[in-house]
Amino acid sequence: MQECCFILLGATGDLALRKIFPALFKASQAGLKPTITACARSHLSTHEFLDKLSTKAKEHIKDLDSKAWAHFSTYINYTPLDFNKPEDFKALKANHPNTIIYFSIAPEFFAKACQNLAAVGLNAPNVKIVLEKPLGTNLQSCKDICAQISQHFQEAQIYRIDHYLGKQSVQNLFYLRHNNPFLAGLLGAHYLDHVQISVLETLGVESRGGFYDPMGALRDMLQNHMLAMLALSTIPANTPQENIRQAKLEMLKSLKPLGQEALKTEVVRGQYAAGGGFKGYTEEEQVNPHSQTETFVALKLELEHPNWQGVPFYLRTGKRMGVSLVQVVFVFKGPPQALIYTIQPQCSLELQLQGMGALKSALDSGMDAYERLILEVVAGNQAPFNHQNELEAAWSFVDPILQSWQTNLTPLLPYAATSYGPQAAFDLLKQDKREWFAHV
Ligand code: BG6
Repeated sequence: MQECCFILLGATGDLALRKIFPALFKASQAGLKPTITACARSHLSTHEFLDKLSTKAKEHIKDLDSKAWAHFSTYINYTPLDFNKPEDFKALKANHPNTIIYFSIAPEFFAKACQNLAAVGLNAPNVKIVLEKPLGTNLQSCKDICAQISQHFQEAQIYRIDHYLGKQSVQNLFYLRHNNPFLAGLLGAHYLDHVQISVLETLGVESRGGFYDPMGALRDMLQNHMLAMLALSTIPANTPQENIRQAKLEMLKSLKPLGQEALKTEVVRGQYAAGGGFKGYTEEEQVNPHSQTETFVALKLELEHPNWQGVPFYLRTGKRMGVSLVQVVFVFKGPPQALIYTIQPQCSLELQLQGMGALKSALDSGMDAYERLILEVVAGNQAPFNHQNELEAAWSFVDPILQSWQTNLTPLLPYAATSYGPQAAFDLLKQDKREWFAHV
């Protein structure tokens, strides 16, 4: 049984209750023994916190074994903590050689929390910190946050999460090619006409309006999850495992900046309006009724990389779509027509062959992303986490788009909830004589 000390900052938040605790529970069933200190501002007793947590656990853990959950609960202690109050941090202990401090809090508190942790010696080499996305809201704020954190923690102690990197099905965008050299040849500039990456969600903003409204789809999904999928789909197939992070960085650095014309004609932003029995985005809780935040974005991009010359990539993501689908489609210049790699809802690989339909095989999407990533932090493996340089490269691509929106270069287009986004997203491909695949 592997032991660790796990301090969770922001323990009463949505992410902690919905994802992190269930992941810790599953990891504990797989042999991890974490001593968990759950911290948040609310003045709760451990008992009160556990009551709150078990209600959520029942909603989010399938076939919850109540005996195992009761045992897991004995690992948890709750400590009220105000991130701004240095004295509150004195209650925290990091005397285990494998201590993990997980920041499930808004990034504006990161610097203060790091400073207060360091003041009580909780930045010693035995401590690792896990930082939730988004790290900043643009390139400059990302750099500022990283600089503040690095005053107290070494790079080897920092694990920057993008939970898509914890999905085996996402990692397989690389391993599929790495382990099958014939596919690596096929999935390159020589044979490909273009690549499509779609992350469509039927969910709206749910109870996260307060978080989402200052953020929007470009920062929430495209800057991180979608560019991570793009990088793993394009790094050279023969990249040795230990060089994956560096190879991803090179791909992100090769993103061709969108010029004024492309910003105007090859970027689409949308916001869901009422439809299909759902309310519109601006009627959601904690959302500004005049909000100009995009819940949909589609764009065309290219990589300035010798392996990907002339292959455009079309990306789209949206909330309140007609279907839940995470998919990468490699479209060929000639037969076979396309290789469709579906990540969600079910992982599968489909090769569309001319004249004889499709060959489809279901794949196992494996362990939950958060569970896998927590176990990687425990093991001290930084490979499935972002290096600061990767984040900066991704923000460098996204920044000009955000700036162009400030001057309203691209209109914010309404689309009906449960549709597939604004017509302009279809026209984006139509103007290139192409169309979106939508395979479920
Ligand atoms: C999160 C975003 O990072 O990813 C959410 O903040 C989004 O808005 C979620 O719903 C999607 O993750 P998954 O694993 O459900 O595809």
